[in-house]
Amino acid sequence: MSAPAPFRDASRPVAERIEDLLGRLTLEEKVDQLHQCGIGDANPNNLAARADEFRATYGSFILNGAQADLATRNALQRMCVDQSRLGIPAIFGCDVIHGYRAIAPIPLAQACAWDTELVRRACAATAEMAHAHGVDWTFAPMVDHCVDPRWGRVAETFGESAFAASRFAEASVRGYQEGATPIAACLKHYVGYGASEGGRDYSPTEVSPQSLWDNHLPPFEAGVRAGAKSVMSAFNDLNGVPTSANRHTLTEILRERWKFDGLVVSDWNAVLQLLNQGFAATEAEATARAIAAGVDLNMADGFYRQHLPQLVRAGVVPLAAVDEALRRVLRVKFEIGLFERPFIEANALTSAAPTVAQLALCEEFAVRSLVLLKNESDTLPLPATAKRVALIGPLATERAALLGSWAQQGRGDETPSIAEELRVRLPHGFELRVESGCAIEGGARDGFADALAAARDADCVVLALGEQWTMSGENGSRSTIRLPGLQEELALAVAALGKPTALVLVTGRPVELHAIEPRVAAIVAAWQPGSRAGAAIARVLLGEANPSGRLAITWPRTTGQIPLFHQMRPRARREPEGCYQDVPTTPHYAFGHGLSYTRFDYGQIRLSHASVRAGETLVAEVTVTNRGTRAGRETVLWFIRDPAASITRPLRELKHFESAELAAGEARVFRWEIVPERDLAFPDAVGARRLEAGEIQVFAAERSVTFTVLA
Ligand code: NOJ
Repeated sequence: MSAPAPFRDASRPVAERIEDLLGRLTLEEKVDQLHQCGIGDANPNNLAARADEFRATYGSFILNGAQADLATRNALQRMCVDQSRLGIPAIFGCDVIHGYRAIAPIPLAQACAWDTELVRRACAATAEMAHAHGVDWTFAPMVDHCVDPRWGRVAETFGESAFAASRFAEASVRGYQEGATPIAACLKHYVGYGASEGGRDYSPTEVSPQSLWDNHLPPFEAGVRAGAKSVMSAFNDLNGVPTSANRHTLTEILRERWKFDGLVVSDWNAVLQLLNQGFAATEAEATARAIAAGVDLNMADGFYRQHLPQLVRAGVVPLAAVDEALRRVLRVKFEIGLFERPFIEANALTSAAPTVAQLALCEEFAVRSLVLLKNESDTLPLPATAKRVALIGPLATERAALLGSWAQQGRGDETPSIAEELRVRLPHGFELRVESGCAIEGGARDGFADALAAARDADCVVLALGEQWTMSGENGSRSTIRLPGLQEELALAVAALGKPTALVLVTGRPVELHAIEPRVAAIVAAWQPGSRAGAAIARVLLGEANPSGRLAITWPRTTGQIPLFHQMRPRARREPEGCYQDVPTTPHYAFGHGLSYTRFDYGQIRLSHASVRAGETLVAEVTVTNRGTRAGRETVLWFIRDPAASITRPLRELKHFESAELAAGEARVFRWEIVPERDLAFPDAVGARRLEAGEIQVFAAERSVTFTVLA
């Protein structure tokens, strides 16, 4: 028997295997490997008949169709392995964003828990479930920077802080790639996509080089350093050069500066869209521009497959460019062991409903990500005297809306509603009346009378308002962040009855509370909490759980205030000059805001030294005391301000966070070790970092101190 080809020999170095395989492939086989194909309606029974559509030589498939299960995946893989000349396995990607069948809160909500370990654990659990369903590679984490909640994809972000997004990017990459059942991660959408003009999806973006380095690039760099195996180039035109044909970002920054050696996949039809964007006159030109910029794997549109052979033969695209792209695709395939294990065996998770452990993790995360925005007169938890509870609003009985826009295989019928969970948890002797009042959208008032009657009869009212899952996420932008339909009117009518009223918001973004907030006593931002939303919300309402989430995004008062974010630069004149005449200029709820059923006091910030210079460290400490009568979790967010610098710096910049559980009466020291080069230096417009001498202010809650950076 002859020895296996070197590329099949797992004992050889990956680089050697790649070169061996490269040398065996025809040009057509090479470009087929650079094609990623959506599976559409592929299933194990129709593959043979559709061999031209789903070719055995394709490099990758997206498991996004109706039959996107393990059997289809393995059947496609069988085709690739058995029916292509060299039997190269395909890699199967999928949008596993915040869960697979068991759904965790949306990323924006996750960020509000301020717990990187929870993010890591959730990603690891998701990877296990997704892999059991045939997924080798997830198109996550999304680490876009967005300060415009009209953009539906704000729900997919980790909030507005580049620092926080960077930490969550690292945690996600580790969770997906380093758990018991790893899948490859993908940092997306590279880069600037979150700055979509007017919050409209797929729109151009104008991002200054300074903002690119301050806000947009850091989470990608952090994810690359954490070892992410792939990056997705975005849809947006970035200052005139679309990001899926942008050599500066894809090659000069990503490859040359950060030494990224994974693969870059274009977003869905992004190469084709270069034509729509006016960056290429022909399909061939779009193809040539994308590969020259550094896109390796071409998602969906098929331009590489159709045009690269001809472009190479005509000398427009060098063969070396195709080879280089192919090396990157193959490297990931070799590294994740696809050549040794092309098929995934079914296991206990493959056909199972979400496991108890997965759901428990989803519930823990959901509880942790809820943000108590307001709680006047301790309206929450619902008091034991409030025997008759009216739950009113279109989100009371909703199920799918609780899961968010990327619910993947999460199912409404496996997601108990708020009403269901509240009913089973209400103590004996309590009465729950549930009325929707109105639909999420639309102008029918038919339900108002019953809703008002229920509220009138109740001791307290819980309003469950918000958005449908389709109202955020991709292509889910809105011109206003007001609650849709008649919900605001319903809330005001109910609140006018004067009952103690708590509002629970189920949304993929902050929403306008300008009119409602003064009329309700308590507000909980629940976001889209996932499979265990109902339980998490009910536990917080009843006081079984103490809310601890803190906003990872600034909550504007009105749509017209957008953009509004904590890391704004200082203005030229002080208040009241330059303020709005009609509404306050401040946010409704600041970044980092979040209440608890207990109360935390912050002592003065203590510094280990009054000054620091490069090469040294400085320690900041603050003692936080739980002054209430119940245990609670506090997150200390450490901010800095550099009040005078060669490039103006933000009013507040998040630099460190830590969260811990404190028993009633407990005092705990929270600590931040400040490394000047890491924490105090800032980038210039070409990404070079400056550490400047001068004063630095440090903030934790209402406390602040100043120290000096020495030259
Ligand atoms: C388009 C979306 O922008 C991206 O986030 C997603 O991963 C791809 N489609 C694949 O479904």
